[in-house]
Amino acid sequence: MKIDVLTLFPLMFDGFVNTSIIGRAVKDNKVTINIHNIRDFSKEPNNRVDDYGFGGGHGMVLMPAPIFDAVEHFRTPDSLVIMMTPQGKTYTQEQAYNLTKYNHIIIICGHYEGFDERIRSIVDLEISIGDYVLTGGEIPSMVVMDSVIRLIDGVIIEESHLNESFNNNLLDHPVYTKPQNFRGMEVPEVLLSGHHENIRKWREEEALKKTLERRPDLLEKR
Ligand code: ADE
Repeated sequence: MKIDVLTLFPLMFDGFVNTSIIGRAVKDNKVTINIHNIRDFSKEPNNRVDDYGFGGGHGMVLMPAPIFDAVEHFRTPDSLVIMMTPQGKTYTQEQAYNLTKYNHIIIICGHYEGFDERIRSIVDLEISIGDYVLTGGEIPSMVVMDSVIRLIDGVIIEESHLNESFNNNLLDHPVYTKPQNFRGMEVPEVLLSGHHENIRKWREEEALKKTLERRPDLLEKR
């Protein structure tokens, strides 16, 4: 998979692209992430990319020309063009799975007051990562990339996907590591028993209990 990110703040991506599981996926060529500065596509003096909105109001609006030029530069017949915006469809694990089907994704990150409405005409999908407003689409784009890249074959151990939260509309069951007794808190007996069937049942029950307590809405989808 190849991902081209259009942003006004390329520096924000340095840690993301080079660290931990994503850093390894990049090194192993499981994914190529190219970060592009939208300013490089501006034909305005001082590489300007934004201006006041027509009709007044405060805040600057991203102009269509540099974004059109950048998208037209990178787009191929099988690219998916995504725009990060609080007005998009709320992102879910199911959408993360859908995105793994694309070989090429272009992600547009906005900043300032918003995008000139005409930019929407070259966008295939608008994504919001939740009902809150951030200063820009950079962090949301990293959320989307992280959730998609970890699903690419060979990026993490396949087994990890089978039981993870949201796959079965269930939250994760509790997990424990050493020591067996930490400040008086014991690891549940069943996990030390070596009895695989009992452990499986216990995990299933605990996942159901946790989901019922915290996210009953997920159980309704099951
Ligand atoms: N840009 C600002 N807030 C956002 C959000 N919640 N989701 C996606 N992009 C955004």
